Amino acid sequence: MRFLTSGRSHGKALVGIIDNYPSGIKIDISIINKELGRRQKGYGRGGRMDIEKDKIDIIAGVNNDISTGSPISFIIENKDWKNWKYRKEEPILNPRPGHADFTGFIKYRLESIRDVIERSSARETAARTTIGAFAKIFLSALGIKIYSYVKSIGNIGLGNDFKINNNYNLVENSDIRVPDPYIETKIIEEIKKAKEEGTTLGGSFKVIAKGVPPGIGSYAQWDRKLDSKIAEAFMSIPAIKAVEIGEGFNSGKMKGAEFHDEIFYEKNKGFYRKTNNAGGIEAGMSNGQDIIIGATMKPIPTTRKGLKTVNILSKEKEVSLKERSDICAVPSASIIGEAVLAIVIANFIQEKFGNDNLVEIQENMENYLKYYRNI
Ligand SMILES: Cc1cc2nc3c(=O)[nH]c(=O)nc-3n(C[C@H](O)[C@H](O)[C@H](O)COP(=O)(O)O)c2cc1C
Repeated sequence: MRFLTSGRSHGKALVGIIDNYPSGIKIDISIINKELGRRQKGYGRGGRMDIEKDKIDIIAGVNNDISTGSPISFIIENKDWKNWKYRKEEPILNPRPGHADFTGFIKYRLESIRDVIERSSARETAARTTIGAFAKIFLSALGIKIYSYVKSIGNIGLGNDFKINNNYNLVENSDIRVPDPYIETKIIEEIKKAKEEGTTLGGSFKVIAKGVPPGIGSYAQWDRKLDSKIAEAFMSIPAIKAVEIGEGFNSGKMKGAEFHDEIFYEKNKGFYRKTNNAGGIEAGMSNGQDIIIGATMKPIPTTRKGLKTVNILSKEKEVSLKERSDICAVPSASIIGEAVLAIVIANFIQEKFGNDNLVEIQENMENYLKYYRNI
């Protein structure tokens, strides 16, 4: 499955095309719209989220609610477009440090930073969340599910020994996707403080895939490794500055005997491990354990107070653009993380079990799992 997205942040609509999506998958549009709603939520998001109520309109590739195997195309209208379409503004020339403004303006020889803002905006991730929702629907038909939670925002977060223990309902009921009410309250205070100070916050989150069979991805070539594609996908989310798999950053501090997940076997349980420090991936392949990805997001570049910058043409000292903006978007980023992980896993599943039709893919996967269980 490959895809392209297009669209300006305040243009008429976002557009997406997905190619090589298997046929025979029931597409429940309410599941996709729910994912879009999850991306929009989160304490600390800006006023734009009160305007947009994202919904997709499928143009092609789905007939009578079933995927046909032809390219899927869809649009998501920007409700805010009506407020922008007749808007005339002076060229914007005061780039925001940390955003695409400075380099984009120079690279594309533009006349206003507006054209950079419109495409580099994380509004694009609504289209990617949609594509991720298609991937999740496909994976769910194979028993693979994806979850996430926010681990920290600013300096406040869950401890390093925190275990989620499948408490994902706590996550879904939290305004900031933090599964601990005490930490949640402290973080919301911190976001309020950042708002008062005219500044912004980043943070970190985890994304978990359950039910992935062992053996997707490969050690045979650098560009066929599951972990390398996952890292690429997470780094493509705006503002993500670090990605880790399993114990990731911590792994360098652990000894071999402590870090590596020892292998056990019992007749009715099959092969199993007692730990999952590797985050479900060894040598570029899934090993049958949960896949656990961690990502860190930098603070949002647009701040109410503004940052020191210069006018690109006059070179005069300036304050950076104060476009309407989020204060913290880590909860949304965790949903986008779910989407990109779903897309990568869906691709590797298709590579191993087939591209064309869901039943064919299910049969191939079941055969492979039978072989695995009977080794
Ligand atoms: C869900 C989400 C929402 C974001 N909202 C904003 C925002 O309101 N204002 C802003 O300046 N940056 C926002 N960002 C971050 C920028 O898009 C990002 O920092 C910018 O594109 C530069 O890319 P880089 O940080 O990956 O280098 C958001 C990112 C995500 C994932």
